[in-house]
Amino acid sequence: MPDAAGPARPPLPSRPGALPQVPPPRTGYPAGPQGSVPQYGAPFLEEGPALPDDLDALEALVKACTRCPLHATRANTVFGEGHRDRPAVMFVGEGPGADEDRTGRPFVGAAGQLLDKMIAAMGLRREDCYIANVVKCRPPENATPTPDQAGHCLPYLEAQIRVLRPRFLVALGAAAAHALTGSQDGVARQRGRVQRRGDIPLVVTYHPAALLRNAEYKRPAWADLQLVMARLRNG
Ligand code: URA
Repeated sequence: MPDAAGPARPPLPSRPGALPQVPPPRTGYPAGPQGSVPQYGAPFLEEGPALPDDLDALEALVKACTRCPLHATRANTVFGEGHRDRPAVMFVGEGPGADEDRTGRPFVGAAGQLLDKMIAAMGLRREDCYIANVVKCRPPENATPTPDQAGHCLPYLEAQIRVLRPRFLVALGAAAAHALTGSQDGVARQRGRVQRRGDIPLVVTYHPAALLRNAEYKRPAWADLQLVMARLRNG
């Protein structure tokens, strides 16, 4: 039976001027606005809670994070690694696989070995770049992270980008593309051009795992990386 007084309201402060009681956050950083569940590329990123401007502090928060169910099945969080101050390129993948979950390092399995070759072909070293993922915990069965899982993890990625100040962002695959551009268009529609995320140039391309499955993606992916190289060469 609906309450004639309308929907339930938060309890009133016990004394004038006191703040209403809010349940403490269950995780390392405060809950999103009104406990909302952020979506891919949502404005939550811009308006979200302040996270530390320090990579080690951020990584410690990620290690302790229980914001989404992926924490329950992880062996290790995979924060990201690489050049910590204005890397030439920040590559963003989808989420850790089995090898990454086991080692706590991004892109160390088969897709990672191909990514290493792509980086070398660009005339760069892995240590010139930063490598991270949209979600920091392995989705079971390597499933694509749900918008809900990605949304909970995105503030960490956003903070990493803010602290690292990469010269270029490369979104590897659809999940990273959705997260970084906010567009739901797939890779085929988003690749082949330089976009911007704030003041950082951004290219979307195929995920190395997709290149391993479909050799026909290799040529367009190489064209995308050449866009990055040309832009880096020209300052
Ligand atoms: N695939 C990803 O998207 N990220 C990794 O770290 C490894 C494989």
